Amino acid sequence: MQIDIIEHEPPYRIGYIVGSLSRDSINRRLAEALVALAPAEMQLEEISYGDLPLYNRDFDADYPQVARDFKAAVEAMDAVLFVTPEYNRSIPGALKNAIDWGSRPWGQNVWANKPTAMIGASAGQIGTAVGQQSLRATLAFLDVRQMTSPEAYIHFTEGLVGDDGAVTVESTREFLRTFMQEFLDFTARVLTVVPRH
Ligand code: FNR
Repeated sequence: MQIDIIEHEPPYRIGYIVGSLSRDSINRRLAEALVALAPAEMQLEEISYGDLPLYNRDFDADYPQVARDFKAAVEAMDAVLFVTPEYNRSIPGALKNAIDWGSRPWGQNVWANKPTAMIGASAGQIGTAVGQQSLRATLAFLDVRQMTSPEAYIHFTEGLVGDDGAVTVESTREFLRTFMQEFLDFTARVLTVVPRH
């Protein structure tokens, strides 16, 4: 069997998924700030999922086009960044639904071996730490490569991201810049040992 290996030199295509569908999402504002802070070797593109119906396995025999498109969008990316709030000590149902769509039909899990990182913003002090643990468990089951360090739990305070999209607190700005640089390095490492097919 011949396996075609896709070249994966930078720049990398990085899909980002915002775990909130809220119009006023602080996680979307964080994601946009991260796009601005990312190294030039990362080309960030949002992967949307808000139009996906609720998954159940009856769809497996004939996946709807919207789900095929979602899977194709994930597949096209070299890596995926999750920027998500915590809902009730887990992740929002809409995000879990999207992950479930990507994982099926059985044997066609689009997440397998994908380099990923996660980050989240909350008005609460522990800034999505518990929700991220829940996301990590799901991604581990789906054979996803996860950056485990640095972790990033953003306590989102009024004015942290200005109207121009810039992060106003220097220490946070530098932390986020480092986070994206680390994610770039992690992506390059994973793609070296697990080439995309
Ligand atoms: C929350 N929020 C929340 N915050 C938190 O730190 N831990 C939690 O478990 C929860 N749970 C939770 C459940 C539900 C249903 C909602 C609507 C909210 C608060 C949450 O962090 C806050 O609303 C953020 O603004 C949500 O992120 P976005 O949508 O602004 O990106």
